[in-house]
Order: sequence, then structure tokens, then C-alpha cells
Amino acid sequence: MNKGKGDLFAAAWAARAHAYAPYSGFAVGAAVRGASGAIYAGCNVENAAYPVGTCAEAAALSAAVAAGETGITEALVAADTAEPVTPCGACRQRLREFGGDETAVFAADGSGVKATFSLGALLPHSFGPRHLATTSPESRT
Ligand code: THU
Repeated sequence: MNKGKGDLFAAAWAARAHAYAPYSGFAVGAAVRGASGAIYAGCNVENAAYPVGTCAEAAALSAAVAAGETGITEALVAADTAEPVTPCGACRQRLREFGGDETAVFAADGSGVKATFSLGALLPHSFGPRHLATTSPESRT
């Protein structure tokens, strides 16, 4: 499952160098591996209107979707912190849209992966596309 996480880390760390984080000063890089095996990276992009800023994971997922991916098998988030950064709550849900309980989520600092989680452990009992697919016709408005 951890196969190739070195490539994921390299992509995330390279993207982190381009983080636009003038307000928090907190640069984050992320990378996801699409079902095809290709890697997509992103960084956080903040905004003067603070809530409009986006996380690195959202950027990486957008790149994957734009390239035609419909699922991910792994994700990695990287920041220069003593305690490895895990995806924020909103990004756990974003990852859930394209991954499953078994999707590996790596937390890294500048020297590499420091912790490994499953998405199911980070977002247990999650809401996902299957819920929308299983509504009965009578309950749809
Ligand atoms: N951030 C991410 O990009 N990903 C995370 O998983 C945690 C937080 C960003 C958002 C904001 O630009 C900065 O880090 C500080 O919260």
C-alpha cells in the first residue's frame, strides 16, 4: 500500500515550495495518486478574503480530476512542523469523495513520511457518494 510514497512525498514537497500563504505563513503541499497510478500535487492558496483560501489537498484533488481521474489510492500532506500535519476535516471529506476507508493517507515533514493513516481512521463512518446512490425514489424530491 505504501509503494511509491517517496514519489508522492517528492511531488508534495515540490508543490509546497509554491504555496501562497502570506497570511498564515504556513506552507502546505499535498499529493494524491490517481487510480491510473499518476501523481497530482497541489499547495495551499490563501486569499485576502480569508475563508476563500484553499487547502493543498483540494488543489491536488482538482488537478487529479482535471486530468480525468475518478479515484485515488493514496494521499500525502506535507508541512514543516514538529508534529506531522493530517488533512483538515473538510479535506478528509474531499478525499473521501475519491477514496475509500482503505485509502492510505501519509503525513510528512521535510524529511519524509512520519505517520500513516487510513482514510477510514481519519474520517470514520463517513458520508459518501454511496449514500446518495441508495436513496429510494419515493424519498427524492
Ligand atoms: N492547510 C492545508 O493546506 N492543508 C491542511 O491539511 C491543513 C491546513 C492550510 C490552510 C491554510 O492556508 C494554512 O494551511 C493554515 O491553516
